[in-house]
Amino acid sequence: MKTTLIFATNNQHKVDEIRSVIGDQFEIITLQEAGINIDIPEPHDTLEANATEKSHTIHQLTQKNCFSEDTGLEVAALNGEPGVKSARYAGDGRDFQRNIDKLLENLQEKPNRSARFRTVISLILDNKEYFFEGVCEGQILTEQSGKSGFGYDPVFIPTGGDKSFADMRMEEKNVFSHRQKAVTKLLNFLTSQRS
Ligand code: IMP
Repeated sequence: MKTTLIFATNNQHKVDEIRSVIGDQFEIITLQEAGINIDIPEPHDTLEANATEKSHTIHQLTQKNCFSEDTGLEVAALNGEPGVKSARYAGDGRDFQRNIDKLLENLQEKPNRSARFRTVISLILDNKEYFFEGVCEGQILTEQSGKSGFGYDPVFIPTGGDKSFADMRMEEKNVFSHRQKAVTKLLNFLTSQRS
């Protein structure tokens, strides 16, 4: 029988990316599909603590196996900002375009445009918690490019890539992406638990 996991997110882009990595080996149920209609807070100052908050919230509600992820864009010249505040960088509206505008403005005149995405997954399986991390190094472009994906994708070019994440199809982004790396670790772990 397939292991079923609730994925504690309301972000359909994340669901699509994670399902495309996990394939049909495990069943991933979204919050909506599980009939859970809440906006889980992310009040903490680390990705790990926010991921834990999300997975524990869903586990307490359902008592079912579940996982969550939290991702931040860490920009070297901005001392790691926006980091854990990536979603609300330009304010509580979580507006992708305003966040990009603020990032490009803060990077004007800064020669070092190195950045990385970091994803932390918190899995609760049989009442125990496990963490998985994925990192994608890259650069912040001076202008945005592309329409795919979400968030900071139009201004991020991964190391080894020749276009922004937003100029890539999801399968291309998955070759490089932080989320794909964390999910692959999750998948390997789940597979090892099953055998
Ligand atoms: P969250 O708190 O994990 O939902 O992510 C915080 C913010 O980081 C999101 O609102 C996006 O702006 C950004 N983000 C997360 N993952 C990605 C990604 O894969 N590409 C671009 N931006 C992302």
